[in-house]
Amino acid sequence: MANARLTAIGMAVPDNRITNEYFESLIETTDEWIVSRTGIRTRYYTRQDEFTSDLCVRAVQNLVEHHAVALDDVDMVIVSTVTPDQPMPSMACRVQHRLGLTRAGAFDVYAACAGFSYGLVMAKGLIAGGTHRKVLIIGAETLSKVTDFEDRTSCFLFGDGAGAVLMEASETNQIGACVTGANGEHGTDLYISGFAPTLDGQPLKMNRCIVQNGRKVFKWAVGKMSEQMRVLAGKNNLTLDEIDWFVPHSANLRIIDAICNETGFPGAKVLESIVDYGNTSSATIPIALCNGIRSGRVKRGDQIMLLGFGGGLTFAGTVVQW
Ligand code: UT7
Repeated sequence: MANARLTAIGMAVPDNRITNEYFESLIETTDEWIVSRTGIRTRYYTRQDEFTSDLCVRAVQNLVEHHAVALDDVDMVIVSTVTPDQPMPSMACRVQHRLGLTRAGAFDVYAACAGFSYGLVMAKGLIAGGTHRKVLIIGAETLSKVTDFEDRTSCFLFGDGAGAVLMEASETNQIGACVTGANGEHGTDLYISGFAPTLDGQPLKMNRCIVQNGRKVFKWAVGKMSEQMRVLAGKNNLTLDEIDWFVPHSANLRIIDAICNETGFPGAKVLESIVDYGNTSSATIPIALCNGIRSGRVKRGDQIMLLGFGGGLTFAGTVVQW
């Protein structure tokens, strides 16, 4: 089996920064409630004429600006998103074309907020199998385009953004064992409306927006993430004490705190992106990791556990060394 490692990382958010005060004029809420219940202070929204593929391209350009890597021999592009510009062609094909990656195959992953982690698992498999050597994995969303601004319980949560990593075949293996899973029976707890009647027979609503049972997802996420942290550490022959950084999907700071309470993992060793960027679904993990690396907190050789969860309900994770 060929070895793999991450060699570069980049991120992008739109220019338009939205503070919690914006929601005070839309719905009955306060900055204090949003901060205390979620940790979120700001998020970024795309313009009407700015789409997910634009953020993908900007994240990859940002990656190239910060790392001396060549992209002309990238042989696969994987994009995770639930907010593609359109269903076909895929975002990965758009990125492949716009960045001139003519030697690359391209496809999208559809696993909601766990999708970036699913992408890492797939990329590792492609490289380990010896069929590919250089894979670009991007998590990107424009959730503001599917936010129900009349839903007082969710509209303040979501943001737009993208993160990208390059995984390459290497001498040493720095991508560890993985976990993947799904609880499809919880499909009605978190979904985008406007496509089909829901699994539990709720009629088709025409507007496309995120619908969630926040409390149920919260509870499931805390239990599942705590359980899978232990499973993932065990699969990598590590104890949780040996994990230098935990990068969970950033959906709510209180979910992260509850996971830390449940597992005894120190909050100071968590990298999050919820406070400054809101919940950017597929992009929360690469954005948090990118900021952790750029700020100098993450050092070469650190053991980093990445673990996503999201609509499906899905989860996936791995342990990488930067
Ligand atoms: O990647 C996607 C994954 N999604 C998630 O992980 C979502 C997980 N869930 C959550 O993050 C939280 O459940 C929410 C942030 C969505 C909601 O927080 P909560 O603490 O679960 O609130 P709640 O729904 O239990 O409501 C608590 C109270 C209620 O008032 P009463 O009944 O206690 O008087 C709500 O009416 O907060 C009230 N409330 C609000 N108050 C001010 C609900 N929304 C708001 C609001 N502003 N925007």
